[in-house]
Amino acid sequence: MLIKRKRGWEIPESQVTPENIFLNRRRFLAGAGVGLAAVAAPEPAAAFIFNRDGEAETEAELHPTSDLYPVQRNLRYRVSRELTDETAASSYNNFYEFGSHKRIWRAAQRLPTHPWAVTIDGLVEEEMTLDFEDIARRMTLEERVYRFRCVEAWAMTVPWTGFPLSKLVEMARPLGSARYVRFETFMNPDMASGQRQTWYPWPYVEGLTMAEATNELSFMVTGIYGKPVAKQFGAPIRLHVPWKYGFKSIKSVVRISFTEERPVSFWEEIQGSEYGFWANVNPDVPHPRWSQATEELIGTGGERVPTRLYNGYGEFVAHLYDDLQNEPLFM
Ligand code: MTE
Repeated sequence: MLIKRKRGWEIPESQVTPENIFLNRRRFLAGAGVGLAAVAAPEPAAAFIFNRDGEAETEAELHPTSDLYPVQRNLRYRVSRELTDETAASSYNNFYEFGSHKRIWRAAQRLPTHPWAVTIDGLVEEEMTLDFEDIARRMTLEERVYRFRCVEAWAMTVPWTGFPLSKLVEMARPLGSARYVRFETFMNPDMASGQRQTWYPWPYVEGLTMAEATNELSFMVTGIYGKPVAKQFGAPIRLHVPWKYGFKSIKSVVRISFTEERPVSFWEEIQGSEYGFWANVNPDVPHPRWSQATEELIGTGGERVPTRLYNGYGEFVAHLYDDLQNEPLFM
């Protein structure tokens, strides 16, 4: 991961256009390549965007699952922190497909998310390709407030909507020989300019063990802040594993494969000594180039708090690693 960039909390709030204002004003990118047209006049009504043929798309066409939101919060997963301000979280993202800096939210609006297919393959009884909308409607959605801790020592606390990954694993019917779950993001360099940077090993890949994937905390995210997940957060479907560094939480998933071999993830391939497969949060194991003892809460103007082992989720996950003590669990 790049470290010599200006960090988001150093950008004055006044320089950041809140996403909702951006959407409501219909100021979509000119020449975005997928037909999003610029409209100069401010438009306070519900957001319209323009498709490839210049026809207006309604919010319902853009987010066909909007009617599913908001859903009830699951209070089993409580956090003692304040929720991160939505605008702050929505304008400070890592999504290297759209640039290797934090202000990718605007570029990420180019991502076409409807229709969206997710292929399930590898060691399964039967391979299948599912439509995202079908998945979202088939699953029972719930809201969970989870802490999120990036390896770069910033953190946020947001209300995610989604369903347990274990439910998807159940639906996939993996064979007994499956030991890992491998996730893959879309590949479309014409649309996502970051993917034209050929020194990165695209597409973005992540992986979990079967025990991690079926742990109750592992969550497939379809929504955030009570509505369908915004593109910069990894629409229309992403992973969130709250006890691991944020790079494990892969965005905009198109393929989920069950494997016997441990997958090599995107960052592991780039620099395995700094971004390993396990990547469990631990304040006492520094990154080779910086301390992991504390984290900065985005949207607070710089408040730092102590980082917690397994990001505070040890009671749910510590047992997963009892027999793996010789592995670099915190790297
Ligand atoms: N997924 C994809 N496909 N591409 C990425 O660049 N970045 C990861 C993770 N998932 C990334 C990704 C990293 S490094 C982090 S910290 C989180 O997404 C950031 O999630 P957020 O933008 O929702 O805060």
